[in-house]
Amino acid sequence: MVFGHFKPYILHIEQIIDGIFYNMKALRTLYEQLGVEAYYKQYAAQYINPHLAQIQELLLANEGNLDYSSLLDLCAGGGEVSAIVQSLGYSNTTATDPFTHQLYQKNIGSECQKLSFDDIIRGKLEGNFSTVVCSFAMHLCPTQQLYPLLLQLFALSPVLVIISPHKRPILDVYEGVQCVLEDYSFTKKGKKVFLKAYNYAYIQHQ
Ligand SMILES: C[S@@+](CC[C@H](N)C(=O)[O-])C[C@H]1O[C@@H](n2cnc3c(N)ncnc32)[C@H](O)[C@@H]1O
Repeated sequence: MVFGHFKPYILHIEQIIDGIFYNMKALRTLYEQLGVEAYYKQYAAQYINPHLAQIQELLLANEGNLDYSSLLDLCAGGGEVSAIVQSLGYSNTTATDPFTHQLYQKNIGSECQKLSFDDIIRGKLEGNFSTVVCSFAMHLCPTQQLYPLLLQLFALSPVLVIISPHKRPILDVYEGVQCVLEDYSFTKKGKKVFLKAYNYAYIQHQ
């Protein structure tokens, strides 16, 4: 009976371990085996980013360079980016993720929209943002959808920030898109996590 009280915590710990396991164990292989959509449908509730420390370091180090006052957390996962900027005192965050919106709501306590890249391309995202941050996710957007996605995002925000453990996606190859800020942080294994901020030459925001 006493053990029963601990059951939810044990289940939670098991989920966390499971989540770390799946993140650390060749996420790419799982993407390939299951497909991105099926992977996130199956494991959305266990999602954990093992590079939270690097995301935090980059967002804190660039607080003076970026405007977090009205931030869109795109592909928000468990609210990693939102939690960090909210800890800095910025409460006006909007989030969207088609798979982990429930996890986001549980972790952050506010609503997460369910929009996919495809939905955003079709104009379903509304708002005016100071900055869009897409952490560990833009590489999941098919290459042929990147430019239409960028155009939609730059219509709503003057700055798009990509945080990523690799150089992909390269966005300044697209007409009018320019990289205006670049930074990186090291993991314990000495690998770089990059932060890149982009703007778009052809839309002037107030
Ligand atoms: C590696 S996680 C990154 C989550 C979080 N931003 C972070 O930094 O930890 C990738 C996220 O992309 C989302 N995602 C996957 N496919 C997507 C799609 N087609 N459109 C929008 N988001 C998608 C997943 O639900 C997942 O939360």
